[in-house]
Amino acid sequence: MRFDRRSRRRGKDREGGPDLVIVANRLPLEFDADEGWRRAPGGVVSAMESVLREQAAIWVGWSGQASDGSDPPEPPTQVGDLELVEVPLTRSEIAAHYEGFSNGALWPNYHGGIVAPVYHRSQFEAHRTVNARFADLVADTAPLGARVWVHDYQLQLVPTMLRERRPDLRIGFFLHIPFPPVEVFSQLPWRTQLLEGLMGADVVGFQTNDAAVNFRRLVGRFLDAQEVDGGFEVEDADGTRRVTVAAFPIGIRASDYADLAALPEVQQRAKQIRADVGDPDVLLLGVDRLDYTKGIDVRIQAVTELLLDGDLDPERTAFIQVAPPTRAKVEEYQKIRSDVELLVSRANGSLGPVGTNPIHYMHQAMGPDELAALYCAADAMLVTPLRDGMNLVAKEYVAARINNRGALVLSEFTGAAEQMTDAWLINPYDIGGMKRTILRAVNEPGQSAQARMAALREGVFTHDVSRWARDFLDSLPAQTHDDT
Ligand code: F6P
Repeated sequence: MRFDRRSRRRGKDREGGPDLVIVANRLPLEFDADEGWRRAPGGVVSAMESVLREQAAIWVGWSGQASDGSDPPEPPTQVGDLELVEVPLTRSEIAAHYEGFSNGALWPNYHGGIVAPVYHRSQFEAHRTVNARFADLVADTAPLGARVWVHDYQLQLVPTMLRERRPDLRIGFFLHIPFPPVEVFSQLPWRTQLLEGLMGADVVGFQTNDAAVNFRRLVGRFLDAQEVDGGFEVEDADGTRRVTVAAFPIGIRASDYADLAALPEVQQRAKQIRADVGDPDVLLLGVDRLDYTKGIDVRIQAVTELLLDGDLDPERTAFIQVAPPTRAKVEEYQKIRSDVELLVSRANGSLGPVGTNPIHYMHQAMGPDELAALYCAADAMLVTPLRDGMNLVAKEYVAARINNRGALVLSEFTGAAEQMTDAWLINPYDIGGMKRTILRAVNEPGQSAQARMAALREGVFTHDVSRWARDFLDSLPAQTHDDT
């Protein structure tokens, strides 16, 4: 195992060093057999990139590889101004902590039980061990008084573990996914430990106000903490400490998508994509990790019915669904893949004549240029999750619509719906309503459609990811430790 804590043991004694430590389940790199270490996809990585453009930092995370696998490649320890600290996980820890507890218990619980969460005591033990390892490595690495920003549901025990090891640090935690209501979270046999873990942070941030309200209620019910001004006061060894609880809705690097969309080669590629699917009158698009929370199946069902009923002309309509693979070892993900693939083939099989295959399904990841071209090509974007913390694809589509054309159909159960009120909001459980809204969205007259898109774009550009990161980091307490 490549787990040499001695080489990292410097933290507090470190001279200077970056003032920001990012702690996330994954490092911002992933290993590809052909390309070697390359930038990892995913919301947390792209969100933090804008922060990292402005300052040096340390990033602590897992490489995605098993540390006891055959000949695991070593990730680099430095990329530009970013220092990387790998947290090694064995195969059995990946199975129990990552696939098991994080994605088989927490993920379905936090998304409201779309599939049944599975609670195993042994998996929680592995989860605790892994969280403690993250805390150890951060404690060994972070300079005195540094700001430590812990991300997401896989690491909720880290804030308190870290505070016990390094009370000098200023600790923020941000949850990228939804936070469930009291009666759902309360199922968790480890609810108290999870809440206590989070309360080690100085700031606990959520995507939405609803999530922050759920958290406050749960702390009020299960922990001994005094609620003051929307946050809490807790008694520590060092006295009374404040925990701020607030919503910080995440944004995207909107100008990056607009810049990509303005490139002649991206515009050319968008034209080519339309030509490749038969130059339809209406091109619909979905882009989601192949996750059961994303409502890909209900969306395919709605579009299929519109095509079968002739509300959309099967010969003049195309629907491209991009669904990159994700968490493929977890059973529920294997099931959603079979369900989606069956729905696509059934739909195309029922719609004739020969040569009419209106649904184009792509089970593969795509780079930003190709995604931007798809966004430019599509007349309407279908974002229909059953539950989603934010949904950045909705924001990316809007940012790429530099001509103010196009329609965004958006589930009201996404965090994005709290901000993007000019989108065509739908209830993904109501297929009839979704069908009617898709038709209204694609048929909206030009002027009002453009006004709608312009308003959406303004919101996405104003509340971009730099502002999100600044708001979050500014809410951390001021530096109190002097290393002179
Ligand atoms: O917040 C959700 C999230 O953990 C993202 O950070 C990530 O991009 C995505 O889910 C995929 O997760 P995983 O790391 O399990 O592939």
